[in-house]
Amino acid sequence: MIAIAIDGPAGAGKSTIARALARHLGYIYVDTGALYRAVGYYMLQHGVDPSKEKEVVPQLPKIDVTIRFVDGEQRVFLNGEDVSDRIRTPELSMAASDVSALPPVRAFLLDQQRNLAAASHVVMDGRDIGTVVLPQAQVKIFLTASPEDRAERRRQELMGKGIHTDFAEVLEDVRKRDYNDSHRAIAPLCQAPDAILVDTTGNTCEQSIAQLIAVVEAAL
Ligand code: C5P
Repeated sequence: MIAIAIDGPAGAGKSTIARALARHLGYIYVDTGALYRAVGYYMLQHGVDPSKEKEVVPQLPKIDVTIRFVDGEQRVFLNGEDVSDRIRTPELSMAASDVSALPPVRAFLLDQQRNLAAASHVVMDGRDIGTVVLPQAQVKIFLTASPEDRAERRRQELMGKGIHTDFAEVLEDVRKRDYNDSHRAIAPLCQAPDAILVDTTGNTCEQSIAQLIAVVEAAL
């Protein structure tokens, strides 16, 4: 099986660009952030502080988080319920970032990610795909852009979903998540030594897609 690992900070356009790359190659696109978001969602629903390991860990045996593909599109199910659309809020972004810093949560979600890559050719996006989840991936990309560019893209993406936020608030959220994701003790966000750096600052979405396709095709 061929795996393309795409890691990078929040709002670098990973999901849009990775999805387009997967479609181009005829591979399955896996958004691993959805797993952390679903776990964060469960915690908030049950009044559990997502940053407290002692509170989160006893909940894990009660959770079944599963990625399934419906018409080729990823959906994430939490205890049998499709929560894919409910996990996209800024509140859930922070909860996901909080639970993702807890080693037992990362261990809890690891096998599922590896099993998905064992079953199909995948483009998998996340924070630690090239470093921890699929260190054997044939192509590793570290996709990034300036914090301002990423915040503006996130703001527009949220607006498209009817969620209105101001730029300063989204930029603050991007910076906070960057800090959390790159300073946690386990699987911190960092570029794998053998990953190719792709910086999409100033690009349109179409330009970023074309850039990534060219880089991956040259590397395959
Ligand atoms: O990619 P997305 O913004 O949906 O991810 C939400 C959060 O989940 C990230 O801020 C990050 O903390 C965490 N995450 C992670 N490892 C992954 C994917 C996401 O730690 N592979």
